[in-house]
Amino acid sequence: MAGSGTDDCRKDIRSFYEKHPYPAPPKNLDDRLKLYTDPDRRRVIFHLLWPGAALADRRRILVAGCGTSQAAAIALREPGAEVVGIDISSTSLGHTRKLSDAYGLTNLALHQLALDRVEDLGQSFDQIVCTGVLHHLPNPDRGLKALRAVLAAGGAMQLMVYALYGRSGIYMLQQYCRLLGLGTSNKDLHELRDTLNALPASHPLAAVMHSAKDFQQPDALADALLHPQDRAYSVPQLFDWLERCGIRFGRWFDQAPYLPQCGTLAATSHATRLGRLPASDQHAAVELFRGTITKHHFIAYRDDAPADWPWHPFEAGHSSRRRHRWGGLIPIRIPWTQSVRNQRLPHGAVAVLINRGHHCPDLFLPINKQEELLHAAIDGKQNLTEIIDGHAEIISENRALTFFRRLWQYDQIVFDASKLHAF
Ligand SMILES: C[S@@+](CC[C@H](N)C(=O)[O-])C[C@H]1O[C@@H](n2cnc3c(N)ncnc32)[C@H](O)[C@@H]1O
Repeated sequence: MAGSGTDDCRKDIRSFYEKHPYPAPPKNLDDRLKLYTDPDRRRVIFHLLWPGAALADRRRILVAGCGTSQAAAIALREPGAEVVGIDISSTSLGHTRKLSDAYGLTNLALHQLALDRVEDLGQSFDQIVCTGVLHHLPNPDRGLKALRAVLAAGGAMQLMVYALYGRSGIYMLQQYCRLLGLGTSNKDLHELRDTLNALPASHPLAAVMHSAKDFQQPDALADALLHPQDRAYSVPQLFDWLERCGIRFGRWFDQAPYLPQCGTLAATSHATRLGRLPASDQHAAVELFRGTITKHHFIAYRDDAPADWPWHPFEAGHSSRRRHRWGGLIPIRIPWTQSVRNQRLPHGAVAVLINRGHHCPDLFLPINKQEELLHAAIDGKQNLTEIIDGHAEIISENRALTFFRRLWQYDQIVFDASKLHAF
């Protein structure tokens, strides 16, 4: 393959990231470490990947295309795991190595290695994290298949790739930059930043620029608009890609933005019609309706994973006759959610629940007094039977279960289902 287009392209990407390491290297990881003093943060991430497994420490984690800090941050928050970070950029690895030394990380190994050569490590992994990388590869199929080849049976992947429609403004400006022959010199980047300040407020890029905190920063600007290689996926393209590569879709990291049961769409006359579609078509339709999703962040497994993966609570119905299907579920509150009380609450609501990870302003869940009491009872220890029976006098079992399903759909909670079968 020496001298092939693929190798040339990989070299272009490597030299791009040597020059523009992204994301910007943090000075330290103290803030991230502080976040994980809340043990539920680790539990939530674990059960997003494996709802039915008991929280386990001893995992082998691969961070593929780890950039400037991601592998060090994961090694720090998972001291019981063995973490391997790979990246093609020595600059990015250098930043990660500095953080590793600063925190004395003994559970982190770093390698300068192209993702599609990951099998050269001769290792397999229980968990693979690969965010913001596969869409930059000249051959993303080859990259994803390489990751699948090192994912252990029963393993899980956390992947993020660009989304097509929400990035249309970015692709317009990428084309604009190509027409002008812009490069990544400091002069070109500064002029580009200044020119973008004159962008019409209604341009499709404007909303993206406002929501991305670091867009004005030169390396971020280069990563978004001057990257030598970048592609994006619509929801159907994403599902086709996974299937081609022997991967089974698990769930969206944040699912509410893809569900017709959440947000303004749920109140339209299309809600019932949408609800009759297969789940994958529902997600495709909601992506089109929203038009603003810029990244697909999701969980995936090998296609030979157990037949009942991905596991979904309530899928098999949730009537009281089926208590064995839900009674032992332990809801855990997602730590980056919050309950907001203000003057402008919808009629009958005492608060609205929001997830700070959502970027769609319609994704809030109004709750009434009874629901607020149920919500307050979620402590990460009690299961649904204990919570619901403890509130039987104020809310019926069916209404309580419907509320828990909505909390789950709106990314307010995840379930620890590891004790379900013992129930
Ligand atoms: C946008 S950054 C994302 C970094 C990190 N995953 C994160 O989410 O913070 C993309 C990273 O992928 C690396 N990369 C690009 N192509 C790669 C390849 N073929 N193999 C390994 N790493 C690659 C780049 O060097 C860069 O550090």
